[in-house]
Amino acid sequence: MKVEFAPINIPLARRLQTAAVLQWVFSFLLLAQCCVVIFLVLVLARSWLLISLYVLWLYLDWETPEAGGRRVQWVRSWTLWRFFKDYFPIHLVKTTDLDPKHNYLLGFHPHGVLVAGAFSNFCTNYTGFAELFPGLTPYLHILPFWFRCPFFREYALSYGLVSATKKSVNHVLSKEDGGNAAVIVIGGAEESLDAHPGNLTLHILKRKGFIKIALKRGAHLVPIFSFGENELYDQVSNPKGSLLRGVQERLQSIMGFAMPLFHARGVFQYSFGLVPYRKPIHTVVGKPIPVTRSSNPTDEDIEALHQLYLNALQQLFEEHKEKYGIPEHKSLIFT
Ligand SMILES: *[C@@H]1O[C@H](CO)[C@@H](O)[C@H](O)[C@H]1NC(C)=O
Ligand SMILES: *[C@@H]1O[C@H](CO)[C@@H](O)[C@H](O)[C@H]1NC(C)=O
Repeated sequence: MKVEFAPINIPLARRLQTAAVLQWVFSFLLLAQCCVVIFLVLVLARSWLLISLYVLWLYLDWETPEAGGRRVQWVRSWTLWRFFKDYFPIHLVKTTDLDPKHNYLLGFHPHGVLVAGAFSNFCTNYTGFAELFPGLTPYLHILPFWFRCPFFREYALSYGLVSATKKSVNHVLSKEDGGNAAVIVIGGAEESLDAHPGNLTLHILKRKGFIKIALKRGAHLVPIFSFGENELYDQVSNPKGSLLRGVQERLQSIMGFAMPLFHARGVFQYSFGLVPYRKPIHTVVGKPIPVTRSSNPTDEDIEALHQLYLNALQQLFEEHKEKYGIPEHKSLIFT
């Protein structure tokens, strides 16, 4: 294999962008483990006072990830995140206004490998969510196990991340006078195993819990398609039925999160490594589907709204695909 090295005379801004992305990949893959190690070091060092104080804090704060979280505007506005956004770059695209008198459930597709678009758009202050959708507060829902990790949970909460449990989504969508937007990556970890460049497969046909919650809370449903999300990394081939896929699915069912074997480029060369490719992401927010609140939705209600949502998502993709370089004959595949 021929290694392609990065040129020496890269402008400072681009170096800072790469550094911002590198620390983010590290946070995603290793920061939680580092936090656990720090906690264990405290235990080994018998720092019982610190440990008891922290455990008391955990006890008092345990519900927060399911009760709207605890965002810190300062962390969301770190200049770091501007460099992060500019690396790819990432763009948030509005198709219509969202009236802040309602609450919304935003379905985000596709998961991609590390959900870069969702994080940048909904957890940091630099892609313009606040200007495009004034009066709306976005909450990105992630797997609950992240919030069981000591110290890391505080960090995650500061970005406005909240748990993806039913209780947590209900909490966000129960705001009396509207103005909340629950963002859910519908395909979940499972979809990341299909995050190969060019892949348009979405795991959505069996996922109906979000439809039920939207009905119960009367939250309007908004499909989001993030063009470019699957182009950031190559992934070791894992077609359905292969040995690797079998192992990955097994691990996912045991641990709850998936382990795609992804790779792209490094810091000093462009041939291998865990730094994603510099490819643009366009996160297009579709039009809302109005939902009338119903405290006891029937299976038919859920089916019908699910179908409506699939159609809206398909239509959103078709309307915008040409602009973002998807060939005419390619369409979304729902599975
Ligand atoms: C976040 O962005 C909004 C809108 O651009 C801005 O008004 C606000 O001051 C920013 N917050 C911080 C802490 O910089
Ligand atoms: C996308 O993933 C699905 C499911 O693994 C697979 O069947 C399909 O062939 C893939 N398509 C492309 C273009 O990679």
